Amino acid sequence: MAELAIYPGSFDPLTNGHVDIIERGLRVFDRIVVAVALNVRKKGALFSVEERLDQIKRQFPEDEVEVDTFHGLLVDYARSRGCNVVLRGLRAVSDFEYELQMANMNRNLAPDIETVFVMAGENHFYISSTLVKEVARFGEDISEFVPAHVLDPLNEKLEAIDDEG
Ligand code: PNS
Repeated sequence: MAELAIYPGSFDPLTNGHVDIIERGLRVFDRIVVAVALNVRKKGALFSVEERLDQIKRQFPEDEVEVDTFHGLLVDYARSRGCNVVLRGLRAVSDFEYELQMANMNRNLAPDIETVFVMAGENHFYISSTLVKEVARFGEDISEFVPAHVLDPLNEKLEAIDDEG
C-alpha cells in the first residue's frame, strides 16, 4: 500500500471541500502532497501561488501534508516525487466525466500511476472554488464553505476587484 499520495489542483482558493478530501485521504495515506498546478488552462487566478500554498500550509500539520507546485504534466511530477498514487475528490455526477477523462489520460501516459478517488462528504457536494468566489462576489456569506483563514482575504480580494471595476 502506498504511503504517499499526490493531491493536485488549482486551489484558488482552498475550500472546505478540498479540506474534506485531504482529511479523508489521510485516513488511507500517511502523507499527502498537495500540489498546486502552475499551468492549468484556467485563466485569471484570484490568489497568487504563494497565497494558495500558505492557505494549505496553515490548515494541516506539516508532517501529514506537504505543499508543492508543479509545471507540466502531473504524471511527470508524480514520477519525480517517486509517487504512484494521485488522489482526487468526486462530488456530484457532473465531476465524473472530467475526472474519468483525466484519469484515463494519465493512465495512458503512465500505467504505473493509479488515480484514487474519494467521495466528498455530503455537506461538500456542491462546493467548488469557482462557485464560492461567485457567491462571495455578490455579498453572500460563504463562511461555511472556506476555512476561517481564507474568508477575510477572499472577501478583501473580491472587494478590491469590485472597486477597480
Ligand atoms: O483544480 P482542478 O482544476 O480540478 O485541477 C486540475 C488539474 C490541475 C489536476 C489538472 O488540470 C492537471 O493535472 N493539470 C496538469 C497537466 C496535466 O497533467 N494534464 C494531463 C492530465 S488530463
